[in-house]
Amino acid sequence: MQNNKSRKLAYIDQGLGIPILFIHGYPLSKNLWVEQIGALSTNFRCIAPDLRGYGQSVYRSTPGGGQQLSMDTLAEDCANLLTDLGIEEPVVISGHSMGGYVSFAFYRRFPHRVRALVLSATRAGADSPEARTARDNAIATATQSGSQPIIESMLPKLISPESFIHNRDLVQRVKEIMSEASVEGMIASLQAMKERPDSTPLLPKITCPTLIIHGIEDQIIPLAETRLMTNSIPGAKLVVIEAAGHLPNVEQPDKYNQVLQGFLNSL
Ligand code: MLT
Repeated sequence: MQNNKSRKLAYIDQGLGIPILFIHGYPLSKNLWVEQIGALSTNFRCIAPDLRGYGQSVYRSTPGGGQQLSMDTLAEDCANLLTDLGIEEPVVISGHSMGGYVSFAFYRRFPHRVRALVLSATRAGADSPEARTARDNAIATATQSGSQPIIESMLPKLISPESFIHNRDLVQRVKEIMSEASVEGMIASLQAMKERPDSTPLLPKITCPTLIIHGIEDQIIPLAETRLMTNSIPGAKLVVIEAAGHLPNVEQPDKYNQVLQGFLNSL
């Protein structure tokens, strides 16, 4: 683990080759990707930051303090990290869930820096009115009671029901990753997700190779929505992972890595 001192982002930078930037979801950290980095860093340069407020990255409000965090801010953090690492060539962007929202913002802002997209367990649409209300409720809970109630309520939704009951090691690991998140980071991301733009108009304009991976038992993002997203991105390929929920790369790492490796080899 290293720290990008100028921007205060912690990150993993492992391996040599085409760079892959792994962007974690909410409320997770770079440790979401350890199995992918372990498997791929023999042939690729794997970079995984902790977004601000997560893992070992401290939460910082935007300059001036008043402006809210947005998916654009998080995408800029990622672009700045690549620049600081001397990476100017286009990279593979791999985003999970909220990391997918950040990936869309990254593509909108820096399309020339994207070689390919891997979108896992994510959606293009903005929040519905019900989802926005749920974000407000979560913000109120986190403000009053901290991160634990959020973690406890999210855990069963992140993992397939079967694994949630029988794979206690997996449940514990995901809980530990979530427990690294700061309350400020969580609240800022909830607000940013609530305000994020609809990325659906972007989809037909995506011209890079795109792989979409989804767990068949994802309880947060319905597979039907993912199919629609896939159909709107020219040439995109969808792979559905069996026996996996919202974290297919953690719940079924071997299957996930096989799919990812196949896509990367085809680039
Ligand atoms: C995530 O996994 O990043 C979040 O569940 C996404 C969301 O709440 O929209």
